[in-house]
Amino acid sequence: MTAINAVTDFAVEGDVGVITLNSPPVNALSAAVRDGLAGGMAAAAADPAVKAVVIVCEGRTFIAGADITEFGGAQKGASLYDVQEAIENSPKPVVAAIHGTALGGGLEVALTCHYRVAVPSARCGLPEVNLGLLPGAGGTQRLPRVVGVEKALEMMTSGQHVPAKQCLEMGLVDELVEEGKLREGAIAFAKKIVAEHRPLKKVRESNDKVEAARGHPEIFANFRKANARKFRGFLAPEYNICCIEAAVNQPFDEGMKTERKLFGELMSGSQSAAQRYAFFAERQANKVPDVPDDTAVIPVNKVGIIGGGTMGGGIAMNFLNVGIPVTIVEVKQDALDRGLGVIRRNYERSRTAKPEETEARMSRLTGSLDMSALADCDLIIEAVFERMDIKKDIFAKLDAICKPGAILATNTSGLNIDEIASVTKRPEAVIGLHFFSPANVMKLLEIVRADHTSKEVINTSMKLARKIGKIAVLVGVCPGFVGNRILGARQREANKLIMEGAMPWDVDRVLYDFGFPMGPFAMSDLAGLDIGWVKEKSKGETIRDVLCEMDRRGQKTGAGWYDYDEDRNAKPSPVTEKILHDFIVKSGANPRHVSDDEIRERCLYPMINEGAKILEEGKAIRASDIDVVWENGYGWPVYEGGPMWYGDKVGLDKVLGKMREFQATMGDAFKPAPLLEKLAAAGKTFQNQG
Ligand code: CAA
Repeated sequence: MTAINAVTDFAVEGDVGVITLNSPPVNALSAAVRDGLAGGMAAAAADPAVKAVVIVCEGRTFIAGADITEFGGAQKGASLYDVQEAIENSPKPVVAAIHGTALGGGLEVALTCHYRVAVPSARCGLPEVNLGLLPGAGGTQRLPRVVGVEKALEMMTSGQHVPAKQCLEMGLVDELVEEGKLREGAIAFAKKIVAEHRPLKKVRESNDKVEAARGHPEIFANFRKANARKFRGFLAPEYNICCIEAAVNQPFDEGMKTERKLFGELMSGSQSAAQRYAFFAERQANKVPDVPDDTAVIPVNKVGIIGGGTMGGGIAMNFLNVGIPVTIVEVKQDALDRGLGVIRRNYERSRTAKPEETEARMSRLTGSLDMSALADCDLIIEAVFERMDIKKDIFAKLDAICKPGAILATNTSGLNIDEIASVTKRPEAVIGLHFFSPANVMKLLEIVRADHTSKEVINTSMKLARKIGKIAVLVGVCPGFVGNRILGARQREANKLIMEGAMPWDVDRVLYDFGFPMGPFAMSDLAGLDIGWVKEKSKGETIRDVLCEMDRRGQKTGAGWYDYDEDRNAKPSPVTEKILHDFIVKSGANPRHVSDDEIRERCLYPMINEGAKILEEGKAIRASDIDVVWENGYGWPVYEGGPMWYGDKVGLDKVLGKMREFQATMGDAFKPAPLLEKLAAAGKTFQNQG
């Protein structure tokens, strides 16, 4: 065995040269890895005993892509194109041996190999679209030549990681080798290639599949149409599609030029910068400075949930999905039956759960009317009404019932967890686990650290979140925590704007165009205006009171802020307009024209300001954590990075200037946060506070 460099070895086994990469954590294509591949290929070429080459990786995965941390820096080491050329033009067949994930540049390297083998657990994909990019190392031209245009469109615009068995079926992988025996299997495969004198298969020369799509522009038109909603606002999906069109309509080398040009445009644009930032922000959120990764973890083998409503049921599904038994406690039998029934129906309706999986998951679920059924649970999550007295009562009971060491969690979306913990004799065991609705779908989990929460409880919660597929962000106790507190700032302005002359549909349109899935008034209609509204107490004092009294309670009653047709399409409502007008006049004001710019700035800048306050109060660990919350819990468009990233993008001096202007005319709701003032004065940003 020869060391090519610090991350690459070369060995000759019989007549096969084996290049082994070992660059933790994910063998990303850093300068050292590219140099190692170039050196390995040169060593294989120079050794007459070598008849074929295998490229294999140590550690958890095959090459998982370009090294994203190198993006934007000066190019060092061998260029990826040169490495790929050395592989593709090698006179000796090259076999990629894949385990873990062959992603992005990793799959693109594999696509320049003449053959690809994989273990059954491996996955392949071109996930660049999720970083606001396209595969920039020939992937856009080679993938459609292997899997065909339709599958390439699907893979490249979704970024999905395709399981090895499917890759085999679509020709992306030539052979599966036994799990755990990749190196031996790949060497045996390479020997077979040599013995059978199989040709040097160069993907670039294989044109059948792209030619089949030539003269059929409808393939692309239909795909664009079918996915218009999903791709809205994002540049990268369209750029990926254009590259596949180029693969179909242009010769390979021309297609490569198109790819390179479009890649350059995306790479230098703000969307990809924001999406790459989001990738690292999510991973950064896992790190808690005073809770090291090796902090003890409490085994969680059984979960108890109090409350079998929409929230409790959704939370339960997360644990059942990963094999953890759940007991749900309700106060009444019919509520319990209903809750358990909803969970079963959700599984039965799910496209991903097979019937036998539904049964397996349901077999892990039990229900009870007695809280003492939670005595042997390792984690108990309370998911009942947002009322402090009820929560305190439950936690006092839990304290008496639950075994020592159990974690006592509340799903409150904003109540004071220190106060809840104060009724127990074990405040160190109490934590907030704030799931978002629907809890089995939404990715975000706000983990709320109270004054006395222990590090073990925090670490266990963070690790468990990952296990159930959530993106966890640790936050501190304050009204509304991070997410709802910032939402409050936006909602306040949205409500004020419609009292000045903007219509609800104006506010919604501006926020929708910014990239949110829907605006606050459309959201309110969807959720129902009557949440928390009590008919008997309603005196027509607020716009909501009036709308609810008129039975305009949202989509479910066919009218709310908007009017709805029988297909639930929304139309601006003259009734709402009249109500608003009357309210404004009654308040002694005159409706005025409110510009779209003002709507955007009034709604978004106070969010940035609230984020700054959260940071200076230490309720979020870092600015990027706030962005992770808003992207994954509230639909902030990932290509705009999150409120704090967006503040930096706009310029903190500009945000501050507007806040001061609004403060002068509209009062202290716009008072700038000291941190915003400080950073703006120093010409700094939230990301780089220096
Ligand atoms: N470059 C640099 N660092 C990377 C990386 C990459 N491509 N992929 C992962 N990492 C880092 C992560 O930041 C993380 O670092 P920390 O431990 O310091 O936080 C570490 O590797 C482990 O990553 P995960 O926590 O995500 O580990 P996982 O096991 O859950 O997932 C993975 C592994 C599936 C490979 C996932 O990391 C992933 O999806 N990575 C990105 C893959 C990707 O997008 N590749 C395309 C890159 S762009 C490209 O290739 C352009 C081109 O055309 C040439």
